[in-house]
Amino acid sequence: MSKLKISGQSEYSSGFETFDDCSIYKINEEQSIIQTVDFFTPIVGDPYTFGQISASNSLSDIYAMGGKPLFALNIVGFPSDKLDLSILSDILQGGIDKCNSANIQILGGHSIKDDVPKYGLAVTGLIDNEKIITNNNANEGDDIILTKPIGSGIIATAIKKNLADEKTYNHAVKVMKDLNKESSGIMQKYNINSCTDVTGFGLLGHLSEMCKGSNVSARIQYKKIPLLTNTENFAKKDIIPGGSKKNFEFLKNIIQFHDSFGLYQKLILSDAQTSGGLLISCNKKDSLNLLMELNKNLDYKASIIGEFTNKKNHSIYCE
Ligand code: CO
Ligand code: CO
Ligand code: CO
Repeated sequence: MSKLKISGQSEYSSGFETFDDCSIYKINEEQSIIQTVDFFTPIVGDPYTFGQISASNSLSDIYAMGGKPLFALNIVGFPSDKLDLSILSDILQGGIDKCNSANIQILGGHSIKDDVPKYGLAVTGLIDNEKIITNNNANEGDDIILTKPIGSGIIATAIKKNLADEKTYNHAVKVMKDLNKESSGIMQKYNINSCTDVTGFGLLGHLSEMCKGSNVSARIQYKKIPLLTNTENFAKKDIIPGGSKKNFEFLKNIIQFHDSFGLYQKLILSDAQTSGGLLISCNKKDSLNLLMELNKNLDYKASIIGEFTNKKNHSIYCE
């Protein structure tokens, strides 16, 4: 199972993700190319699973914008002098199989010798100009829908420390390796105004970006936020990645937490996610129907976690 030494994810930063999920290049009056790239170090010990999770994570930005992926390129770092090449081919096979599920091919890529394995994809997609879903168009009064449970940073840290039992591992892996393809297709049938995917900046980080860009505030209810199995138990024991703590330090002045919040809950909401779900701003008239269709088709829980309000002193109010 553990052929890879898990490096954890606290090292990578999401600093470039603050504008929008993909870069957009208009190619004619009707269409644009959308482009995204992401890669990271192993977060699970099994190479094939790592390849699937990383590829799914790399594709996510395309789906968050409502686009269709066209093709991908591999980005690989590998210690070929220290690890067996069969491990690399297992990682790559995970990527290939995940791209097959996305109906695209990996057309090439680039690899370098590196001390620590790294893997990800550069993904090119296509989108109709009038269908681009940005992260800065949330409307006051819209419901906020989250399509995947959070806690993957905390669970990945528990996995790294060999503390996660099988049930905990399986739930986190199932959620992380699942493409946001289906959720993206479903949301586009409804009256939605804005979307982003939840990754390294955590739920609060990506939500605060939506608020800032849209000139609104948000109110969310902790009880309504789905969590991966055992997230609270590990968070209470401070099994939390450094990146999630940094997210919280960076965000704490623009968030107002209800007095009842413990530090572990604040850190869960700031937890850096790998291959997280979509965060959708949906018109209240449509939100229950969208949620029902999501939950009919996903094998994990999507939820309405709160709503966007007029702009207030704080960016996000957590109850
Ligand atoms: Co993104
Ligand atoms: Co990204
Ligand atoms: Co090259």
